[in-house]
Amino acid sequence: MQNYTGKLAVLFQGQGDSLPFQQLAERLGVPLYQSVNSDTPENFFLSWRDGCLKLLDKGLLKKGGLVVDIEPRNGEQRSWPAPKQGPLANALGRKTRTVIDATAGWGQDSLHIFRMGYEVLCIERSPMMAELLIDGFSRLAEQDWMRKLNLHPPRLLNGNAIDLLMKLESRPDCIYLDPMFPPKRKKSALAKKSMVVLRDLLGDDLDKEQLFAAALMAAGKRVVVKSPDYAEPLGGKPDESFQGKLLRYDVYFKS
Ligand SMILES: C[S@@+](CC[C@H](N)C(=O)[O-])C[C@H]1O[C@@H](n2cnc3c(N)ncnc32)[C@H](O)[C@@H]1O
Repeated sequence: MQNYTGKLAVLFQGQGDSLPFQQLAERLGVPLYQSVNSDTPENFFLSWRDGCLKLLDKGLLKKGGLVVDIEPRNGEQRSWPAPKQGPLANALGRKTRTVIDATAGWGQDSLHIFRMGYEVLCIERSPMMAELLIDGFSRLAEQDWMRKLNLHPPRLLNGNAIDLLMKLESRPDCIYLDPMFPPKRKKSALAKKSMVVLRDLLGDDLDKEQLFAAALMAAGKRVVVKSPDYAEPLGGKPDESFQGKLLRYDVYFKS
């Protein structure tokens, strides 16, 4: 289990039944608090507010906090399936139907891929991120448009993709990777809050070369790696590359 000692706690401030909060704290092996003050060692707190599981840092306690956002991103169409357009769709490939997102994180890429009509399975190794994803995907399942179209949210596996990819029952057409790369500068003004928090809590993904090797073995047709535009390609020279805003999707075909 991931060690969140001294970093993460669950916060219950009298929001109804305390049992789900206790159970969440037990599942993650972290303390449960009823209030936070300047002596509290942890900097991050999980709490249900406004019907969502939120990740709050001490500075955000009175503000919104971070959630798995299930709304389409700027520029994405709201219809389902949304058109398979743009650098991500180009990288996934026209013949791809099934995708494993082996680094699900905040689920933003998984949900973009899902909304374009691909069949998506998510893998995330952080139990904390898995809890946030479960909450986001269950909110997604409740959306009117999902019900009307009889759609189910992506499936989620909590564990290390390096192991889980070796145990798949069938090969997905594509395995998608977006591991954490070290930032170009220590504190980049451009880095999104959600990613800064992930780095603070989980650290860089130091085993991304192993993850790439596992993905290349397990994929049916291709592996797509999202990287910041300053980073060296994870798997050496890619077969194709698609440029996004400050990032690249490097594509490796299975020979
Ligand atoms: C940069 S974030 C991914 C962000 C995601 N693409 C999104 O749209 O929100 C990387 C995530 O991958 C997860 N991760 C990295 N290596 C992993 C592995 N070997 N197995 C499972 N999850 C992994 C990390 O825990 C982290 O949550």
